[in-house]
Amino acid sequence: MEQEFSAQGVLITGGASGLGLAAARSFAAQGARVVISDIDGEAASEAARELGPGHLGLVGDVAREADVKRFVHAAREHGGGLHVLINCAGIPDTFRPTVEQDLASWQRLIDVHLTGTYLVSKTAAPAMLEAGKGAIINVSSIAGVLGLTMRNAYSASKAGIGMLTRVLACEWAQQGVRVNAVAPGYMLTPFFQRLLDEGKLDGDGIRRRTPMGRFGTAQHIADAMLFLASDRAAFITGVVLPVDGGYTAHGAPADASLPDER
Ligand SMILES: NC(=O)c1ccc[n+]([C@@H]2O[C@H](COP(=O)([O-])OP(=O)(O)OC[C@H]3O[C@@H](n4cnc5c(N)ncnc54)[C@H](O)[C@@H]3O)[C@@H](O)[C@H]2O)c1
Repeated sequence: MEQEFSAQGVLITGGASGLGLAAARSFAAQGARVVISDIDGEAASEAARELGPGHLGLVGDVAREADVKRFVHAAREHGGGLHVLINCAGIPDTFRPTVEQDLASWQRLIDVHLTGTYLVSKTAAPAMLEAGKGAIINVSSIAGVLGLTMRNAYSASKAGIGMLTRVLACEWAQQGVRVNAVAPGYMLTPFFQRLLDEGKLDGDGIRRRTPMGRFGTAQHIADAMLFLASDRAAFITGVVLPVDGGYTAHGAPADASLPDER
């Protein structure tokens, strides 16, 4: 069977875990040459090894311009070109009341999510613009659409990623580079599991609030990314696609799903 991303270069930031790792596996299964870049370099190398020959794992912080230049250059050189970029690196918010937060944690959240997405996109885009074709997938969140208490920097950065997606999509549309985002709901990844374990999120409450009555999986996000990066989405640019089991569609005051419907 023909593979949809045969010999295409795909760079995934934050690809050593969770949503990025699921995307790495899915693109590799479709024939792509995957470059995983992650602040945890060992995990990135291990994940690339697990994908098999022809894939690469690199260390890099998306918020540091020198790192970004280095790993984007390596991705361009890795077997001929960069066709898809997935900006997936991320960290959770502090979940502390706003008046108790320090500026450094606010700044780091903004730097990793919003500035990181800007920096990596800006650095990767010239290769795509020269080729006249490319797809960038950003990762926003339901937190970029709905107000969630004690997640001010996370939410503001995710909302910013939505707008950055639209702006870059318009800027590069005529040169063949499409820019879209996914907005995950609550997906069972190490990131989300940690928040449940630490009691920062109420799993039962989330399930009840979700029309589909369950958490999503990393594969749900990877499937949306595969679609948005593919030629099947050739006329789609500038969208922020919710992948959230209906969470952001639900507006009624009552829970969306009954316990026995889960
Ligand atoms: N899991 C969810 O329910 C959920 C929901 C909405 C949005 N998201 C977003 O999806 C993205 C991935 O989350 P996940 O659930 O897969 O988390 P995860 O913790 O499993 O993976 C995140 C990866 O990003 C890497 N990373 C962190 N900071 C980095 C940096 N500065 N530079 C490079 N890499 C860095 C981590 O080392 C890790 O490998 C994040 O942007 C997160 O905000 C997740």
